[in-house]
Amino acid sequence: MSKKTLPVSHERMAELASKLPTPFHLYDEKAILENARAFKDLFSWAPEFVNFFAVKACPNPNIISRLARLGFGGDCSSLPELYMAKASGIPGERIMFTSNDTPDEEFAEAMRMGAILNLDDISHIESVKRACGKLPKTICFRYNPGPDRTGNAIIGNPVEAKYGVTKDQLLDCYRIARAEGVEHFGLHTMVASNELEGDYIVETARQLFTLVVKIHNELGIDIEFIDLGGGIGIPYRPEQERMDLAYVSENIHRLYDEMIVPLGLRLKITFECGRMITGPYGYLVSRVRHVTHKYKDYVGLDSCMSDLMRPALYGAYHHITVVGKEDRPHDHKYDVTGSLCENNDKFAIDRMLPEIEEGDILVIHDTGAHGYAMGFNYNAKLKHAEYLLKKNGDVAMIRRAETYDDYVATLRFDGAEVKI
Ligand SMILES: Cc1ncc(COP(=O)(O)O)c(C=O)c1O
Repeated sequence: MSKKTLPVSHERMAELASKLPTPFHLYDEKAILENARAFKDLFSWAPEFVNFFAVKACPNPNIISRLARLGFGGDCSSLPELYMAKASGIPGERIMFTSNDTPDEEFAEAMRMGAILNLDDISHIESVKRACGKLPKTICFRYNPGPDRTGNAIIGNPVEAKYGVTKDQLLDCYRIARAEGVEHFGLHTMVASNELEGDYIVETARQLFTLVVKIHNELGIDIEFIDLGGGIGIPYRPEQERMDLAYVSENIHRLYDEMIVPLGLRLKITFECGRMITGPYGYLVSRVRHVTHKYKDYVGLDSCMSDLMRPALYGAYHHITVVGKEDRPHDHKYDVTGSLCENNDKFAIDRMLPEIEEGDILVIHDTGAHGYAMGFNYNAKLKHAEYLLKKNGDVAMIRRAETYDDYVATLRFDGAEVKI
């Protein structure tokens, strides 16, 4: 069971919601940093362990820079994310550029910044040469195990996935890269998303260790780091359990001792986790605009799926607390909706909640990763502000809300002619 609590008292949450324009996101600094530190400590046995925090999960430098000070790196998938990682104080060598369908100019800029290029395809060796004139000294390849693994609902079946080099291509990738002057090698895979079963991650490590051994034996290349990707899940539902990360670490350690140590390798272990670092410690705070009774009963919020897409996109569950009514009987069934002109703009369907009135404050839990970041502007919905609940209890604005001027800033009202 993962008890769903608020990061402040109900009175303080009500006060915040009365003083700050809703909706807004609130991130709990203390909990994020404690959690990040605990993750790092669990893998202290591994040489130079690093989690490249997935910038896409929570692209706010106020949070990323705090993680960077703990020694976290950044996993980036685009040029703006590379810039954000850099602006958050992450040095190039701690930036993993795990992109796909990558434009040449992004390879070039990533290499210039000293980031590690994680190539998604064998043909990208040529792309990097074209873009950068040569390959960098360090390179990583993203492996797709295909039929050897099953994926899960969010990431999909590896055979159907657009990511990574196949089993048959992998050794050639390293062979070619070495011939092109690469000296340091990494191996990456990501075959799960929001996975709660620890054995799944242990099995992924076993699979990568097996490949490290194979590459060592067949090519004489010593892989220097493996990157187990992101994908460690969080218990969105109260009845779910957190992944037992101590178990995961212990079992990866055991495999490491069995498979890697005898080769005399000093293999580094890295991850690209985002969700499990910030996910549980972000909250979307919203106010009830209307309670309506049609064929079903609806609670209409002042937020919508552009503030949190996961329920509409994946049918994902996010727990909801009605502030001040936690202990009342949950004896009313509602669809909790936003105001988009899309009928799937629902945060919850048939959710049992206490009786709700206009003006109630609803807190949607576990929105600290892939929450704000996935937002969009359909229906000209303006994105809300983000706040950090600091360790001392103060609240700091870490991103202001969008304005109409922001929304139209890229428009050209004069229809400026383009010379082609
Ligand atoms: C390549 C890659 N790495 C890391 C992540 C982060 O995953 P998570 O936030 O679930 O840990 C993602 C998520 O989409 C990803 O695509």
